[in-house]
Amino acid sequence: RVVGRPLDRVEGPLKVSGTAPYAYERHDVAPDATYGWVVGSTIAKGRIQSIDTRVAEAAPGVIAVIHAANAGQLGQSGSHAVRLLGGPEIEHYDQAVALIVAERFEQARHAAALLKIDYVVEDGRYDLEDAIPHARQAPRGFGGPGLTRAGDFEAGYAAAAVQLDERYTTPDQSHQMMEPHASTARWDGDALTLWTSNQMIADAVGDMAVTLGIAKDKVRIISPYIGGGFGSKLWVRADAVLAAIAARHIGRPVKVALARPQIANNTTHRPATVQRIRLGADPDGRIVAIGHESWSGNQPGGGTESAGIQTRLLYRGENRLVAHYLTELNLPEGNAMRAPGEAAGMLALEVAMDELAEKVGLDPVELRIRNDVQYDPEKGPERPFSSRPFIECLRIGAKRFGWSERLRTPASRREGQWLIGMGMAAAFRGNLVTSSHARVGIERDGRVWVETDMTDIGTGSYTIIAQTAAEMLGVDIADVDVRLGDSAFPKSAGSGGQWGANSATAGVYAACLSLRREIAQKAGFNEAEVDFADGHVISGNRRIALGEAAGPDGISLTDGIDFGSLSKRYAQATFGAHFCEVGVDIHTGEIRIRRQAGAFAAGRILNPKSARSQVIGSMTMGAGAALMEELVVDPRFGYFVTRDLVDYHVPVHADIPDQDVFFLPELDDKSSPMKAKGVGELGICGAGAAIANAVYNATGIRLRDYPLTLDKLIDRLPPP
Ligand code: MOS
Repeated sequence: RVVGRPLDRVEGPLKVSGTAPYAYERHDVAPDATYGWVVGSTIAKGRIQSIDTRVAEAAPGVIAVIHAANAGQLGQSGSHAVRLLGGPEIEHYDQAVALIVAERFEQARHAAALLKIDYVVEDGRYDLEDAIPHARQAPRGFGGPGLTRAGDFEAGYAAAAVQLDERYTTPDQSHQMMEPHASTARWDGDALTLWTSNQMIADAVGDMAVTLGIAKDKVRIISPYIGGGFGSKLWVRADAVLAAIAARHIGRPVKVALARPQIANNTTHRPATVQRIRLGADPDGRIVAIGHESWSGNQPGGGTESAGIQTRLLYRGENRLVAHYLTELNLPEGNAMRAPGEAAGMLALEVAMDELAEKVGLDPVELRIRNDVQYDPEKGPERPFSSRPFIECLRIGAKRFGWSERLRTPASRREGQWLIGMGMAAAFRGNLVTSSHARVGIERDGRVWVETDMTDIGTGSYTIIAQTAAEMLGVDIADVDVRLGDSAFPKSAGSGGQWGANSATAGVYAACLSLRREIAQKAGFNEAEVDFADGHVISGNRRIALGEAAGPDGISLTDGIDFGSLSKRYAQATFGAHFCEVGVDIHTGEIRIRRQAGAFAAGRILNPKSARSQVIGSMTMGAGAALMEELVVDPRFGYFVTRDLVDYHVPVHADIPDQDVFFLPELDDKSSPMKAKGVGELGICGAGAAIANAVYNATGIRLRDYPLTLDKLIDRLPPP
């Protein structure tokens, strides 16, 4: 009735009218707030020799200069490989070394320039390619184990009739979500309230408590509206920690936001990768050996980019090797960014598959169909996929896109100055689930409310949670109030790893189920025969208004879901097929996307409108990864040069003219009681490879180093 309908976002009017309060805008709760400006280290590795705060402290409006020497003892939470307030040791460029607190924002920013810091510079390692000889097999990273094997990869590959052995690279990337990291901190006695922009509320409470050395119950995190995160806000950052420390120090609320150019180096990024893929196949294109090795770097204690993760599950093959190698770098900390692992890995694997298709003379769609496998190919048929309509995605996507019009010989279609090509790639992203709880109540007037610390990072959580409660309790969605993003509410799955929608709605579903039972009992109905519809509890010919059944004081309870062994017994993932048409300017090498299309399977689609927004957004991000996004490293000084949106290019509307998204009707009853899966990250996985393959089809030039900028094409284009 309600779940599965393409309803508008319930918080949409607040957002478009500018009245949804974001963390930096909480004037209501902190009218006497002061402003903090984060001062970042201007070296990447070394130590602070001396810090002279006198001139800055005397500048107009300045209230305090907080730095390591006066900030008090700070705990180091396990969520962070680096400290969020550096000094005297410096771990990376733009690591926060001080916070200037002033009456006005401009005064704080001005005084930052008056701070005198002398550094002792040490040599660091900043170049992934140079550091590869120092790499070691990675421990478990943020996406999977360091090494998995099945069969005998080396022997299987050596014996294969068709062999492909290629190397691919992906650059460091920055999340660059719309809203920068921002916090407003206020202390009431020994208790901290932090309005911040954060994806995982309960983790934020834990990290703040550890960092500040206070009890968890003295920390309240409030984060109802978030202007995007993409993984950059999975954990608290310097803005949150420094706002809290400074507010305690001066006895007044403090607001801190990172300026756009601080995000790239002060926070986390998606680490660059070097990937080697070996595919061994029989003459019919059936894969017999598949090997994917990936190298990435990070700060000591940081994780590895698990770029081989999809290669464990996506295609058949008896002999398998997936290995991740990690090397120490002194760049800022690498961490999760939208679809960590697959987003980078699919950029390589799906180009390799395009290359294999050409070698064996098969259509790329047919090659993938031929290599489908309905069970975990590392474990065998005893671990089937919960559902895997991959072949259907390939066929339906190809039909909708018009794949049959593709000319197989590269560089054979031309329109004026444009070389036209078509490319495709698989989409694959794991389906994770995690425990999630909610409190659900019914007021005496029949209104329903839901409270959970789940976050909405622009994804539509408010709406799908309202839909779930409306469906379960038989009311209109307009009669449901959803309150999110507050650590005072029950702990949820949070937003990450595309587990949020499925897990959080399953938690709300479970709480509603318990509430239905309680109401039925209260009304004296037989639980098994009760229905909830039209705002009433109905049993046989008896109807009671929901508010009446709730009683004069209303009714509420907390419950949730814990996922059992189904996620271990069944391989679970989301699937799809990307298609793309590009034009490449024969004179300049400029690549223009003409259209993108995809067919996707992700279980029940809870809200086709918000799910489509997730997929077109992530297809757009895939286009950015293919064509323009790159944190350029200055290897002399160890920092990312491209740090604002002038230099760090992301797609704009003019880059993305036409997108078609189709969802396969699917229910996955192993995934959750919602029979849904995640969809927020699926669309980025493979989207960039489809573009790279289209560029090859257009030009005959195979590029294996992202981003595919025109300088890599221009000298190799056919004569005009
Ligand atoms: Mo996602 S990279 O787990 O926010």
